[in-house]
Amino acid sequence: MNKSLDIIHAEHRAIAAMMHGLRQIVAGIEKGRLKPDFELFRAMIEYIDKVPEKVHHPKEDQYLFARLRERSAEALPVIELLEAEHRIGDARIREVEAAMQQYEQSGAAGFAGFQAAVTKYIEAEWKHMNTEEHEIFPLAEKHLTAEDWAVIDAAFLSNENPWKGDAGQYEKLFTKIVNIAPAPVGLGPG
Ligand SMILES: [Fe+2]
Ligand SMILES: [Fe+2]
Repeated sequence: MNKSLDIIHAEHRAIAAMMHGLRQIVAGIEKGRLKPDFELFRAMIEYIDKVPEKVHHPKEDQYLFARLRERSAEALPVIELLEAEHRIGDARIREVEAAMQQYEQSGAAGFAGFQAAVTKYIEAEWKHMNTEEHEIFPLAEKHLTAEDWAVIDAAFLSNENPWKGDAGQYEKLFTKIVNIAPAPVGLGPG
């Protein structure tokens, strides 16, 4: 696979791992095995919010989708759908955040709403990433030229480790989550 697509795939896996961790913790609360930890929820939601928004989606829009738009009419409707999803990503995560605040304020009565919001978000994001991998990746591999890939790869590789973000903030946030999340999601007390 092309280098840029490898990077996108690796980022999808990291986002999916964080979402899976959140889902496991919510399931643990439902079964009465875990107590809600709102500091942990805030950190996980911040990560799921900021990393795709600041690191991941802009590279897809500005480089991969921008080039593919010019090369493949077939890709156009899919690109437009995915770009529209990028634009509403912020509003979607705000719904999860609002449900979490409601849960924090109202206790057990707010759990079902939070669980539903988390599930809805994760399913939409999962579908989005799968569409990219199963529809956009093959079209990109088929239609983009060597010159296109040179430009896209240069952009993706110029920022050696974008996960570090400004002053390593995403990496620090990730470490914090791993340290406080209960096992088996993280290293905290299960
Ligand atoms: Fe995307
Ligand atoms: Fe993506």
